[in-house]
Amino acid sequence: MSAEDQKRICGVAAAALVEDGMLVGLGTGSTAKHFVDALAARMVKEGLKIRAVSTSTVTEDQARALGIPLLTLDEVETIDLTVDGADEIGPGLSLIKGGGGALLREKLVWEASRRCVVIADAAKHVVRLGKFPLPVEVVAFGHTGTSRRLFDALAECDIGAAPRLRSRDGRPFITDSGNVIYDIACGVIEDPSALADALKSVTGVVEHGLFLDLADEVLIGTDSGVDRRSP
Ligand code: A5P
Repeated sequence: MSAEDQKRICGVAAAALVEDGMLVGLGTGSTAKHFVDALAARMVKEGLKIRAVSTSTVTEDQARALGIPLLTLDEVETIDLTVDGADEIGPGLSLIKGGGGALLREKLVWEASRRCVVIADAAKHVVRLGKFPLPVEVVAFGHTGTSRRLFDALAECDIGAAPRLRSRDGRPFITDSGNVIYDIACGVIEDPSALADALKSVTGVVEHGLFLDLADEVLIGTDSGVDRRSP
């Protein structure tokens, strides 16, 4: 089964977890896109009634085009279920997210959610986090200086990687919240929790792509179907 098919069957399986009347968090990325499609299909076929909060403008556009009623995060208190993709899934369902640049809004939506389900193709499962460059969202003002302080914070965690400014079409990539992103090729992250604390302590860092103790369940697409895992 191709990675795309694995993503699709996970999206369909996650859409089956949604119940009538739920407030649903919609993730971002190629896997979450399948979930949103499958959710909209259930609304049409079964008359399922839900409302949703999006984690990015891209997903918002998709949801709106499919007729999914949207609320902003400020209009809600608790989201029943959020379904989102991941770039790496490590021990205890620790995650790296943000490959699509939506990590800040994703984390805000996840933290407002009662239950968070990750959907991913089998290649996302890793023994240790860190092969995928860790995205860190940084305030655009003074970001070059912030990146130098990030380098120092990384060194204190024995990570000798230089933060690399993400670009698109030759210009810095700007997030939905107007920030820039630095990607850090950490290599094996020995202590994700210590690294998360170190990154958050740098002035100018808004959020990082380590999602620790946030995922309740993972649905992984495999050749034999969807494999469900809890921490
Ligand atoms: C978006 O910023 C990310 O966190 C995505 O959820 C993550 O990059 C997974 O994307 P894919 O489903 O496209 O692999």
